[in-house]
Amino acid sequence: MNRELRADASGEFHAASQAQPNIALVKYWGKRDAALNLPAVGSISITLDSLWTRTDVRFVPGQKGDRVSLNGRSDEAESRRITACLDLLRQRAAVDWGADVASRNNFPTAAGLASSASGFAALVHAGARALGLQLSDAEQSVLARRCSGSAARSIFGGYVEWAHGRLADGTDSVAQPLLAAESWPLRVAVAITSKAAKQVGSSEGMRRTAQTSPYQSAWVDTQEADLTTARNAILARDFEALALISEYSCLKMHALAMAAQPGLLYWNGATMECMHRVRALRQQGLPVFFTVDAGPQLKAVCEPSAIEEVKAALRDVPGVLDVLDTGLGAGARAISPDAVEA
Ligand code: ADP
Ligand code: DP6
Ligand code: CO
Repeated sequence: MNRELRADASGEFHAASQAQPNIALVKYWGKRDAALNLPAVGSISITLDSLWTRTDVRFVPGQKGDRVSLNGRSDEAESRRITACLDLLRQRAAVDWGADVASRNNFPTAAGLASSASGFAALVHAGARALGLQLSDAEQSVLARRCSGSAARSIFGGYVEWAHGRLADGTDSVAQPLLAAESWPLRVAVAITSKAAKQVGSSEGMRRTAQTSPYQSAWVDTQEADLTTARNAILARDFEALALISEYSCLKMHALAMAAQPGLLYWNGATMECMHRVRALRQQGLPVFFTVDAGPQLKAVCEPSAIEEVKAALRDVPGVLDVLDTGLGAGARAISPDAVEA
């Protein structure tokens, strides 16, 4: 690559970024190409605002290998995944410098709250800037996707769609905004039912599902219709329609994964109890629906007017440890390195 790499004002290849997790309303589950991390299906999500990852990246010319701290600790498997992501950036910049990375999540990691989404969106955003790569949002989304599929969506804020894509090289399997957060400012109550890391991570869960679940082809075949329904509901701000399609996609994904061998059980008893509670609230006329990702936390999405009642109802469910409250937020962005303190 014929481009001069330029250090920042203090002579360093250094940047810090923040990204927020997103929760899928029409779920991504399954890959058609594991090496490029191309999804078996398109997906639609909302980016949150009060949960975040903050990541500081410093490339050090001449350094061999990366030094990684995630939430103040260093774990071999997590570091390997971060190095693989940095390798994509190093390749783009044609350098082989090691990096010092410090990252922190303000919510439980690897527990079904999309830490891989905010984590790799923040890493790509900061790493690209540290290397002076001037990447468009779409290019960052493609790189983030290769590190964790859901991270493609956290480059953007609000309502976001990640396209299945058609090209063999995956450059069109990219996320793009559908609607700004401010245009339909729904709120989300997150019921935390366990802070432990899940036993089967999302990547492994998808692999097992595709290999063994008899419902895999039905899942893939029905996704396009769900995407159309959800997209239309979002563009029309039709809460009831979005509620129905989101709960449907969530339960369909979990049914698919439960039918793997051995079956994947991402819920605990409290997760199930929260689903019943949300359904009961909706039957009483409250504008709220649930979704659950690969983990035991329940996300209740509601109109702003309903948030206090939803939070109170979820807090009341036995086994709920905590209820977080968040709005919809922005995409990945630059922050001051002082804000990271990992
Ligand atoms: P989640 O439901 O939290 O997304 P996943 O199984 O998809 O769970 O991914 C969790 C993994 O994502 C972690 O084990 C770690 O490898 C990676 N990860 C989480 N947070 C970060 C971060 N801030 N920076 C880089 N990688 C991260
Ligand atoms: C259930 O993006 O974490 O949250 O691409 O293997 O890193 P990898 O998986 P990941 O999977 C997220 C799955 C989900 C649904 C979704 O976010 O669409
Ligand atoms: Co994830």
